[in-house]
Amino acid sequence: MPNAAMTQDELKAQVGRAALDHVVRGEIVGVGTGSTVNKFIEALATIRDQIKGAVSSSEASTQRLKALGIPVFDSNEVDELAAYIDGADEIDGRGYMVKGGGAALTREKIVAAQSRRFVCIADASKRVEVLGRFPLPVEVIPMAARRVARQFAAEGGTATLRMKDGQPLVTDNGQHILDVTGLSIREPLAFESEVNQWPGVVTVGVFAHQKASLCLLATPEGVQTLR
Ligand code: 5RP
Repeated sequence: MPNAAMTQDELKAQVGRAALDHVVRGEIVGVGTGSTVNKFIEALATIRDQIKGAVSSSEASTQRLKALGIPVFDSNEVDELAAYIDGADEIDGRGYMVKGGGAALTREKIVAAQSRRFVCIADASKRVEVLGRFPLPVEVIPMAARRVARQFAAEGGTATLRMKDGQPLVTDNGQHILDVTGLSIREPLAFESEVNQWPGVVTVGVFAHQKASLCLLATPEGVQTLR
């Protein structure tokens, strides 16, 4: 029965639990970042005795994993992960995503790249036809921020430096984040390749080369699997 009264928090919890089906028992799992992933981490704790541990994409997730008794491995200690579970800010029908709302995009891309499958967990509000509605996060070397912002302006985008407590937000990697509005990303693969080559760009938050293998989408009617 559809449950229209479900809150977004409940939808996130539902999809976080559903992601357990994609965790390979006896192995190390890749863990992303964000409020949806936090629900997954809570669910993961219920099967912690069945996994070796996790590779984490942020200091925030690492703290949560450790607090729940899940061993965290450095990504350099592991060659390949069977599955990486992470959220998204936007996902289109091909599995291309925008990510980085939680400023963890660089480490997220690294862990995604060492994983055989990327299982995206999201609520239905994240599903879009064309990427670009959500301000695109771009991690930059601080000294390049203004120049990268001008390059986006030439492409019709408006880049804003992400702030926290009155100061530029500093990522886990010691860099800054630009959030870019006004883009319509119709060719995500080409766009990601191009922006990643701009001097000073650490990572662009388009995940096309590391797209989702499948998406678990939480709806009031239940969790849908998009492939
Ligand atoms: C963090 C991310 C998150 O996966 C993304 O922002 C979605 O977060 P949430 O589940 O809180 O909506 O990319 O860098």
